Amino acid sequence: MCGIIGVVGSTETLATLLEGLQRLEYRGYDSAGIALVHAGHTWRARTAAGTESVAALRVECEGAPQDYRSGIGHTRWATHGAPEAVNAHPHLDCSGHVAIIHNGIIENHSELREILTGRGHVFTSVTDSEVVAHLVEELRGRGLELLDAVRHALLEVRGAFAIAVMDATEPDVIVAARRISPLVVGTAPGVSYLASDVPAILDRATAFYAVNDDEVVRLGPEGFRAVDLEGAPVRLRQLQIDWDLETAEKGGYDDFMSKEIAEQPHAVYATLLDRRRRDGSIVFDELRISDEELRDVKRVVLVACGTSNHAAQVAKYAIERWARLSVEVDIASEYRYRDPIVEIGTLVIGVSQSGETIDTIQATREAQRRGARVVAISNIVDSSLAREADAVLYTRAGLEVSVASTKAFVAQVAALELLALRLAQLRGTLAPEEIDRLLEGLHSVSGHIATSLGRRDDVAGVAAQLLDAHDYFFLGRHVGYPTALEGALKLKELTYLHAEGYAAGELKHGPLALIEPGVIVVAVTTDPVMHEKILSNVAEVKARGATVVAVATDDDERIDAVADYVLRVPATQSMFAPMIDIVPLQLLAYSLARGLGRNVDRPRNLAKTVTVE
Ligand code: AGP
Repeated sequence: MCGIIGVVGSTETLATLLEGLQRLEYRGYDSAGIALVHAGHTWRARTAAGTESVAALRVECEGAPQDYRSGIGHTRWATHGAPEAVNAHPHLDCSGHVAIIHNGIIENHSELREILTGRGHVFTSVTDSEVVAHLVEELRGRGLELLDAVRHALLEVRGAFAIAVMDATEPDVIVAARRISPLVVGTAPGVSYLASDVPAILDRATAFYAVNDDEVVRLGPEGFRAVDLEGAPVRLRQLQIDWDLETAEKGGYDDFMSKEIAEQPHAVYATLLDRRRRDGSIVFDELRISDEELRDVKRVVLVACGTSNHAAQVAKYAIERWARLSVEVDIASEYRYRDPIVEIGTLVIGVSQSGETIDTIQATREAQRRGARVVAISNIVDSSLAREADAVLYTRAGLEVSVASTKAFVAQVAALELLALRLAQLRGTLAPEEIDRLLEGLHSVSGHIATSLGRRDDVAGVAAQLLDAHDYFFLGRHVGYPTALEGALKLKELTYLHAEGYAAGELKHGPLALIEPGVIVVAVTTDPVMHEKILSNVAEVKARGATVVAVATDDDERIDAVADYVLRVPATQSMFAPMIDIVPLQLLAYSLARGLGRNVDRPRNLAKTVTVE
């Protein structure tokens, strides 16, 4: 998730860009850059200093021309290509006149790069974004004005983008466009602005406009003109912005947690984007082991902590079902100290949002010391875990600020199920058409998550009834079990109330003794195969006075008769259900925590990344 900003017609161009990039820093980045444009000349500076990149850029810009009236700036959250200055935006075309910045993923960048290289274009980065600079260069070379050159270039592009383009041979113009990745336009007298979101230009612009998918905007000092990709004029919707800066950084949400819960459809969509070659093979981000080694894997061990461990537990079912491989999931802090047996052909998968959790890193190091090959599932490019692994699959959930992990969980499950399908593909345990069907189902999860998010008021209504409760059990079977564990963890860390996740079939082996009136039992009942069984578990706890909240599919006609409250979700294939069923559980924990006056972004005693053992 990168941040972009642009300004045209300003007498404070550089200050505006640097201030805006600073404001975008909560989006996370590992590099940053600026291009200033004046008649016939493009000046550029780029740095790759992690979270100090903007500060380093400020130093670089001390030598910048001070009188240029337009420019663009970018903070990069790497998805393609290491976070080095050479891959930082803005990217230039061969002439050095065209400068572009991009937030998103260009799915067909490889084929476009091949075509453009074949026509003599010279690429200087390994990013997907650079292809747009060369596409625009070609179209400008055919005499198109910048607006039409960008429009036609984007007709060639598949994937997600919020993009801004300048050309020194058409000064005082910026052309911006969006598809999926966020983009706003702002105006003030004699100046126009663009940004990934409002905070970057909140103090400068006096009017703000939303840009919709496949809309292209030409900005100049006098204002802007918008068209669709076919060139037909469109009107941008004006936004009523009365936010202060802190609210703006949360995108208008009350807190980062609710913002990140809402970002889950995109987190899954982005994680799954651009994952297949033309021959149908599923690809990783970084692969330093051969397909043969992956094919020869005999056993899989997943190591992770907290929410990431719950995602790993979902993966166990998927890898065993699809790849027919024996899978073990271990708590990372336990794995390292149990003298683990690592035979030839053992693949260890480290799952970590931060990629810096020391328990997980130490566990994968121990596994490597004993001869295992390691795959990292990480949300941070070039994190310690990713750097040390033999292969990496990045989740692309974007920066997760709230201590309670939400969008990382769904993105991790998506990435792990993609990995499970890759293993099945290599081992031939699933027919190609079955893999296609499952991938199609995986891609439909984003929409189902969005549907569940649309029911947040129903969840808030249930939470309002439970504010006096103080004892929770979360029950599930099959993949509903790790979902229950994750729901319990969310409730614990946000409300500070006692909650336990349990395998529903295990209740009668002891914990049932705890069930009495006043205890809340949250049951994940969506799996069609286990439905009968979980309903009988619900009956067991109801008979002992528990209040039951059921997560149930829209087509479940029996649940209303047995549960006190029902949180409905769209039905899907059981392996995908955790990414959808977790949404009402996240919202339940969030609503209860807000009702109890907790700090949902920074729960007591907890840190976002645990870098101590
Ligand atoms: C989850 O809400 C917690 N913040 C915590 O359990 C977290 O999942 C755990 O510390 C692992 O973090 P990681 O994914 O960055 O390794």
